[in-house]
Parts: sequence; structure tokens; C-alpha cells
Amino acid sequence: MAVITWWMLACAVGLLRGSGGVRRGASPSLLGGALAGLGLRDYERDVTEQDPRSRCSNLSGAFRTFDGTCNNANNLGAANTPLARLLPPVYGDGVEAPRTRGRNGRPLRGARRISQLVFPDTSRRGLNTLLLMQWGQFLDHDMTLMPLPTERVREEGGEPIICCGRDRLGLASPQPEDCFPITFTRDPGFLGSCMEFVRTIPATRRNPRDTTEPREQLNSLTAFIDASAVYGSSREEEEELREANGRGYLLKSERSSQGPLLPRTDRGICARERDDPPNTPVCFLAGDERVNEQPDLATIHTIFLRLHNVIASRMAAATPRASLSFNSTVFQSARRVVGAIVQRVMFGEWLPIILGDRVMRREGLSVHRRSDYDPSVDPRILNEFSTAAYRSASLPPIKHQYQYQ
Ligand code: HEM
Repeated sequence: MAVITWWMLACAVGLLRGSGGVRRGASPSLLGGALAGLGLRDYERDVTEQDPRSRCSNLSGAFRTFDGTCNNANNLGAANTPLARLLPPVYGDGVEAPRTRGRNGRPLRGARRISQLVFPDTSRRGLNTLLLMQWGQFLDHDMTLMPLPTERVREEGGEPIICCGRDRLGLASPQPEDCFPITFTRDPGFLGSCMEFVRTIPATRRNPRDTTEPREQLNSLTAFIDASAVYGSSREEEEELREANGRGYLLKSERSSQGPLLPRTDRGICARERDDPPNTPVCFLAGDERVNEQPDLATIHTIFLRLHNVIASRMAAATPRASLSFNSTVFQSARRVVGAIVQRVMFGEWLPIILGDRVMRREGLSVHRRSDYDPSVDPRILNEFSTAAYRSASLPPIKHQYQYQ
């Protein structure tokens, strides 16, 4: 019970922060504002490549930046900045080594053993569909991604970081830097006795010469619920995802007999499969690199790709092509509506199921109340939120089990 209450509270705190400082039910006014914005404002004036030093001089832009800079009055919550914390870290060596011993000095139990003991596989019937889980994951991919060095190594064409030995039996020797694999006695649930685990990239120390400053983790996404899983968390990602031609107000898509699909890529996790002809799997490209992690997730991404393109096409048809920035303005206006819809579903539909109406009301999260911007709210994602509290795939409150219907 204590775990569940803590989980709910941390979710509420985390989401309150992640919503970008809008306290009471962010969505209705945003959605209304975005739709009212059909008399489209000139995008180029609002969000162009600016000198980073002067980036936040104009906080009244009509559209959010892609990397989350200047979304917050104190410029917190941008992509590639450290996560915030409720509590200071407790490392084995006080600085960065993972803890391997408990307070009593005895070795901690293995992660797999704890996971098996605390969260055994169960199947329970409930009222919710799998979509409850799926929306949760999609929203996580709008808010948090702690980058791994494996991605950097891959981008630079290097060898993947492998921590386990052959056939996942025992440890690789020598152990690459950043490895912290999970080893255990063999059991029927896993082929092998070692699970890959690579530590995330540390944030740059505030004082690089201070070797006693504890390691912090990074969030490579914008902390805001801004549909960044659809559009990316950087200008470069947006450029890659957006049509470049005369229909630059659309997101790129591929035709299929089933309707438009996400564009394909052989980068990211699919690069791993490149040596597997003839059926080399092809990955989808979306605003978040984890889109291919499982098919339901890719489906939600596809729905939002289509939603953007429908909204943008209708806006484009209703707007005279008067300015040079027509495509950008329509693209941004549709992005704004899609972002508002994501917020509306999150605060209006998903969170009330997860947290319950009482917590929604108590924390001022209900969409039925007026929303005011509160600059004192810290929008950064909490380390405790992305590492533990929001892992509701593995830590669902007992009364909310997921079920296919
Ligand atoms: C089929 C469903 C899912 C699969 C296969 C999956 C898999 C993964 C994997 C492989 C990771 C990276 C490794 C790690 O950090 O542990 C991860 C991270 C994470 N997952 Fe999931 N997940 C699923 C659903 C969910 C759901 C439903 C939620 C929340 C409602 C969630 C929340 C998170 C969070 C917060 C992270 C950390 C992200 C970061 O900041 O790096 N996941 N998941």
C-alpha cells in the first residue's frame, strides 16, 4: 500500500512538473488557443535558429521550441539537461559507483531475484484495456529518455558495448567501461545467466574539476508534454521528420494499402540487423527512437502521424498561401493542436484512471479547472519519476491491471 501511495504521489509530482508549469488541467485552454490560432501566426518570426544566448529573450512565441528551450520562464526542462531529484544520490563510492551493499554492509540481493520476488508474472482481469499501458509508454517517450553510450558508439560506427559472455553465460572479459550487467543463477525464464545492462551517459559536472561531485543522469527529451515523441526533441529531428517539398506542413509518411505509415529507416536499433540478409528488418522513424520497441507503440505513433497530417492538410486548405513561411506556420499550428490533444488525453482521460479523481482534484490536475501558467513550477523530470515511479509497466497499482478486451 505504501508503495502504491508513494507511486501515485511521485507520478502526480512528476507529471505536474512535466506538464510545463501549467497547474490546473493544462489542456482545454491550450487546445482552445491552438484552434483559435487557425488565423495562423507567422511561425518564422517566433522560432527560428536564434543565438542560444538570446534564445529566451522572447518568451511570448506562439509555438514551443523543438528542444524545449524557453518553454519555461527559467529555461528549465530543455532536452539534454540533467534530471532533477527529490533526494540526493547514494552511490557505492559516494560519487558514481552503483551501490552493491545495503546499509548493514551486506551485499544487496541481485536485481533479477528482487524482480521475481516482488513482481511475479500474474494475470488478472480488470476493466482497463491494453491501451492504458500503451498510452503510458507513449507518454513516457514524450518526456524521458536517459541516453546510453551504446547509441553514441553506434553513431560513431564503433563496436557495440557487450557486457555478458557468449550465449549470455557469465561476464564478458574484459568488462567494457559503463557495464553493470545483471548476473544470476540460471532459471527457466531466461536463456543464460547474464543480462546486458549498460549505464546511462552521465551529465557533465557543474564543476568539471570537482571529482567529488556525484554523477547525475541526463534527459535527452524535452520534459514537457509537447508531442515530442511525434516531432522529436531537436530541430534536426524535426527536419528529418518533416516533408521538405511544397507540402512541408506535413510529416513524412509512406503509402501503404492500409493507409499512411511512418517513414522507414535502417538507423537506430535496426542498424544492428544490417548483417542479416535477406529479410533485413526495417524500422520506423518517429520523433522518439524507441518507436520500434514493440508494435502497439508503433501503432500509437502511426495514429499521431496521421492525425498531424489530417489537421495540417485541413489547415493548409483553409489558409491562403500568402507568406513564404506558409508551410512552417501550418506545420507548427498543427503541431500545437496535436500537442494540446496529447495533453488533453493525458490529463483528461489517462491520469484520472491511474491516479483517481480524488488525487486529481487534490493535486489540482483536473481539466475541469481553469489552467494558469505558474512560473514557480519546476518542469524538469525527476530522476525518481523516470527511474522508478513511472515504470508502471512493471509497477501498476493492484486495482488497475491491464487487459485485452
Ligand atoms: C511493452 C511494454 C514496454 C516495454 C517492452 C518497455 C521496455 C523498456 C525498456 C527496454 C526500457 C529501457 C531500459 C530501462 O531503462 O529499464 C524502458 C524504459 C522505461 N520505460 Fe518502458 N517498456 C514498456 C512499457 C512502459 C510503460 C507502460 C511505461 C510507463 C507507463 C514505461 C516507462 C518507462 C520509463 C519511464 C523508462 C525510462 C526511460 C528513460 O528515461 O530512459 N514503459 N522500457
